[in-house]
Amino acid sequence: MSASRQFAIVTGASSGIGRELAKVCAREGFDLLIAADEPEIESAANEIRALGATVETVKADLATTEGVDQLIDAAKRIGRPVDALLANAGHGLGHGFLDQDFAEARHVIDTNVTGTLYLIHRIGNDMRRRNAGRIMIVGSIAGFMPGSFQAVYNGSKAFLDSFSFALREELRDTEITVTCLMPGATDTKFFERAGMLDTSVGTGAKEDPADVARTGFDAMMRGDGDIVSGFKNKVSSAAANVIPAGVLAKQHRKQAEPGSAKS
Ligand SMILES: NC(=O)c1ccc[n+]([C@@H]2O[C@H](COP(=O)([O-])OP(=O)(O)OC[C@H]3O[C@@H](n4cnc5c(N)ncnc54)[C@H](OP(=O)(O)O)[C@@H]3O)[C@@H](O)[C@H]2O)c1
Repeated sequence: MSASRQFAIVTGASSGIGRELAKVCAREGFDLLIAADEPEIESAANEIRALGATVETVKADLATTEGVDQLIDAAKRIGRPVDALLANAGHGLGHGFLDQDFAEARHVIDTNVTGTLYLIHRIGNDMRRRNAGRIMIVGSIAGFMPGSFQAVYNGSKAFLDSFSFALREELRDTEITVTCLMPGATDTKFFERAGMLDTSVGTGAKEDPADVARTGFDAMMRGDGDIVSGFKNKVSSAAANVIPAGVLAKQHRKQAEPGSAKS
């Protein structure tokens, strides 16, 4: 690996926003350790190597302690300080809560919340010892609204949005920055994986993941606390601060209820 380049970890880099985040990092001078749960992480690595970065991969379920430990062990083997941690891995789950398989609902929490926090705890402590580093947490504007028919996911993102602001404040006297990237609906595998292709949000207009990644990366490099990507999402998230939660839950039903897709 080139000594002049910085080093970043990007989770969930096999597709969507994470893959684009890893590509922006590579173009902007970072070597990478990237992780995801499926073998597709290797094709992402090849694409990113072609941009001039050294890329190592870990294939692990980041919902588990063992999976996160595999990633930490790989970072230790590489032996470079982590200049940036982009905690992006996450997934959704559509349908009514009581109709969901509880193991799948739990996997959303274990991935989005528990695995993400464990990784940040481990890498964040290394950063604090060095008094240097950037942390990006991929939250969502979904965290601003009760997510009827995606209740567990929105709750997990509300957790991350809140956690990110709190961690940033705790670290305010250090050289470590914490940035929460909050995208709106983005054109990735997310809705297919969440079983939401028959919903209004699943079939509606979406942002380009490359644009979301660039917006988030720039905010992280500036050391901003939070960034909502896209003008329409900025308006919705601002409105969510003043609209009663019950009304937001009703609005979310129109977007996420199975069969809500406009024909
Ligand atoms: N798309 C949207 O509308 C939207 C909006 C706001 C926020 N977000 C957030 O953006 C992040 C990226 O999602 P995306 O839209 O880019 O979806 P995506 O295309 O499905 O990508 C998700 C990535 O996370 C990885 N991942 C998921 N669960 C994992 C686990 N347990 N262990 C390891 N890797 C895991 C996936 O890898 P595998 O395929 O190998 O599991 C994949 O690389 C998520 O945190 C999501 O909540 C998305």
